[in-house]
Amino acid sequence: MLKMISLPYRYDALEPYYDAQTLKIHYEILYKGYVDNTNKTEEKLNLARNTGDFSNIKCLEKDLSFYGSGAILHKLFFENMGKPKQTEPSEALKWQIQKDFGNFERMKAQFIEAAKSVEASGWTLLVWVPEFNRLEVLQCEKHQNLTLWGCVPLLVIDMWEHSYFLQYKTNRAEYIDRWWNIINWDVVNKRL
Ligand SMILES: [Fe+2]
Repeated sequence: MLKMISLPYRYDALEPYYDAQTLKIHYEILYKGYVDNTNKTEEKLNLARNTGDFSNIKCLEKDLSFYGSGAILHKLFFENMGKPKQTEPSEALKWQIQKDFGNFERMKAQFIEAAKSVEASGWTLLVWVPEFNRLEVLQCEKHQNLTLWGCVPLLVIDMWEHSYFLQYKTNRAEYIDRWWNIINWDVVNKRL
């Protein structure tokens, strides 16, 4: 059974860049929903295997990918945030970014533009792609569409409206720009 992570900080820890009310709703209701629905889907799949009734299999596999990816990405998102301006990219991460993007600012520019232009609801991710032996910036629609198989997410930003609408309304650019201050680089460094 999949369990929720405990938030590694208080609801007001990310202010003024990410407000406590948004964080509380995001964690307690939305993230919980993805974890609960992943577990419900696993139960339904187990029942299907036990009874041999796979008539609903297409829908269940879709739910597994959607809710499961939602649960995973929210966990990563909450973990890769922290108190404002406390951490920095490691030398190893900076070296890899420079190798793969030219320099840090170019990676950041790609990440920001990718995040701003996510179609409807989705994510933007800095990922390590073992098959390519390099970092990439990926855009993701919903929680599960548009990926590179086997990639390891290092840094993720939630671009669903529920993640920023209360505080930033429709101003995605301002949300991303201010969110950059609450990245927990220690976690990103460790993931690499
Ligand atoms: Fe979210």
